[in-house]
Amino acid sequence: SETDKGTYEYYMLKEIDEQPIVIRRLLDKYFGENGEILIGDQIVSDIQKADRIYIVAAGTSYHAGLIGARMFEKWAGIPTEVHVSSEFAYEQPLLSENPFFIFLSQSGETADSREVLQNVNRAGFKSLTMTNVEKSTLWREATYALPLVAGPEIAVASTKAYVAQVTLEAILAYAMSERIDLDLEQELSTIAVDIQAIVDDKAVFQEVANELLVPATSTFFIGRGSDSDVSLEAALKLKEIAYVQAEGFAAGELKHGTLALIEDGTPVIALLTQPKTAGLVRGNIAETQARGANVYRITTSVLAEEGEKGYVLPDVDPLLAPLLAVVPTQMLAYYTSLGRNLDVDHPRNLAKSVTVQ
Ligand code: G6P
Repeated sequence: SETDKGTYEYYMLKEIDEQPIVIRRLLDKYFGENGEILIGDQIVSDIQKADRIYIVAAGTSYHAGLIGARMFEKWAGIPTEVHVSSEFAYEQPLLSENPFFIFLSQSGETADSREVLQNVNRAGFKSLTMTNVEKSTLWREATYALPLVAGPEIAVASTKAYVAQVTLEAILAYAMSERIDLDLEQELSTIAVDIQAIVDDKAVFQEVANELLVPATSTFFIGRGSDSDVSLEAALKLKEIAYVQAEGFAAGELKHGTLALIEDGTPVIALLTQPKTAGLVRGNIAETQARGANVYRITTSVLAEEGEKGYVLPDVDPLLAPLLAVVPTQMLAYYTSLGRNLDVDHPRNLAKSVTVQ
């Protein structure tokens, strides 16, 4: 059954491996036979009427929101803000005249997000919840709800729900776009195949984790644009299941403080999937190497250069690159946790669903 670990030692790896299936399931659910998008005309037109989208979420779902916001702005042309729900609930920003709220939540039960939705409902604003749990509280209380169809996610560290959220955000942004020059259905099915190839490279990531991250006391993930968003998620994963102090951030910020922490042998994982800024990130990589950093790159085939240490992803649309780039980082976190003999699925101090504020 779907909640059976089968031959896997931990649910997390099983859930990482399920990501290609999850994308295919989303394609089946949200694309019709003639390529039309089956999201519901009412949802799409309500969001299109809004002057601003507010994405509200916590943890990994918040990180998925950062990626989605770029799609809503670039593809659909709607200004989009992303907020951590525990902040939004008590420090509500000034809202636009006609806001639309999107709640992202694997469980649909995160208390901080529920608090925000109650405020939103009281104010009479419309909302959409994207969640993996149908009939959950955020599902029931929002104006609209769309299922992530990722199947039960059991490991505390979220993987396939993140990929499902980013994929569904892409489909929604695409539905609202003025026919951008991209066949999203085709692109996503290629991405599913590409993820399959990445998850088949387990031995590669186990070796890198053992060499670079298992012995590390701290590590840095850097990138620009959506690579900086993936950096945040990559760092979170490593912190939560492997207990390695990790920071993820916009590569250009390095020289404004963090560079002081780079010492001989410090692991730096550089995400390099955005053609527009690849040259700048290369410069940032060089800055860390000059201080002795041990750099590992996650890059795409068009951006990779001969002789560089790292993992090369297939070429992909820059806005969709996070769907590929995140997968090696999930596996690095997994194998670092394993290499440190930790209980991957049950990290200390953490809960799968946080129902207290
Ligand atoms: C907990 C989980 C995280 C998750 C966050 C938000 O902290 O451990 O993995 O990202 O809650 O959960 P949600 O169910 O709202 O996505």
